[in-house]
Amino acid sequence: MNQEKWVTKITKIEKGKISVRGYDIKEMMEKLSFGGAVFLLLKGELPTEAESKMMEAILVSSIDHGVTPPSSFASRLVISGGNPINSAVSAGVLTIGDFHGGAIEQCAKILQEWAKKEENIENLGKSLVKDFISKKKRILGFGHRLHETDPRTVKLFEIACKLNFSGRHMDLAKAVESELERQTKKRLPINVDGAIGAVISDMGFDWRLGKGFFIISRVPGLIAHAYEEWTTQKPMRRLADLSYEYGGAEERRIHSR
Ligand SMILES: CC(C)(COP(=O)(O)OP(=O)(O)OC[C@H]1O[C@@H](n2cnc3c(N)ncnc32)[C@H](O)[C@@H]1OP(=O)(O)O)[C@@H](O)C(=O)NCCC(=O)NCCS
Repeated sequence: MNQEKWVTKITKIEKGKISVRGYDIKEMMEKLSFGGAVFLLLKGELPTEAESKMMEAILVSSIDHGVTPPSSFASRLVISGGNPINSAVSAGVLTIGDFHGGAIEQCAKILQEWAKKEENIENLGKSLVKDFISKKKRILGFGHRLHETDPRTVKLFEIACKLNFSGRHMDLAKAVESELERQTKKRLPINVDGAIGAVISDMGFDWRLGKGFFIISRVPGLIAHAYEEWTTQKPMRRLADLSYEYGGAEERRIHSR
């Protein structure tokens, strides 16, 4: 039977030789930063110096955000139950969704779809916000439970401007931020997910890689949390350690039916 071969264009492995996108791993180890190597993997070509610096900034920006986000919390709970570190880190990664970290993907999708339209940015921002508000949908990449202005967004945009990655997607994100405040009367800042979504869009990345960016950035944080929980805390962290109260039915009896 003539079976088609499974073709991959990422990495060629031969005895004693590994080439990623055609470049020898030994040369990459000497000449590329981690961010630069990630760029090569995802885009298929070597980054320019500016692209490499931008990648580094993106990957550092989301490296950790304390114990409270779902991902670090989940990693700590799973390791405290007596599981290996790989299970703990996987549990953290599984929490990444549209509202945590994964907002990069959907924000980049929204920005890429809307920025294509032939309209000036200010009007696009207005229509985009109106559209989402009328459908009672949240615009992913905006809002933060703690930061009124996300310091990571400010720095990422500053670096992107310096390196010439401030294009139509970043402009649209800024227009959406001010329009959201005008239409909802709430301060919903561009959060780090939104900022990464805008910058990777201006760098020409497909929105489908959005969650990948967050995972690559946050896994070191999850490992640090799991390791700290494992080596410094008592096993089996319980809900009793946290603030909660019972809000269900009062005590009752089962009557014979
Ligand atoms: C991040 C987030 C969960 C923080 O939420 P929060 O500060 O706890 O705020 P709440 O979920 O209580 O929302 C408060 C109000 O703002 C609105 N709101 C919050 N984020 C919004 C958004 N991105 N777009 C539109 N409205 C939003 C909510 O609908 C709510 O309105 P209401 O008071 O009329 O019900 C929230 O802003 C959000 O869902 N953002 C989108 C997802 C995202 O970007 N996640 C990445 C976080 S780094």
